[in-house]
Amino acid sequence: MDMTREVTHEERGPAILDESDTGDDGKIYVCQCGLSDSKPLCDGSHNATADEADGVVYKYANDDADGERREVGKVEDDDQ
Ligand code: FES
Repeated sequence: MDMTREVTHEERGPAILDESDTGDDGKIYVCQCGLSDSKPLCDGSHNATADEADGVVYKYANDDADGERREVGKVEDDDQ
């Protein structure tokens, strides 16, 4: 199982990235946790998810890594 979280997405289209989005190492880090304040780029907010438990669905207040985290469900097992 995996840990997971619910986030609200307000954008309705793609983000266009270019060279200005690259980090000091020349790579572009795209947020996949959904908590970045700099979407689509990673801002380190994913560190808040490090202790999430497997099989639990979380919601962070205001989709903010510093917001209150609560459990909102369980991950469904697709193998059944
Ligand atoms: S992966 Fe979401 S902030 Fe880093």
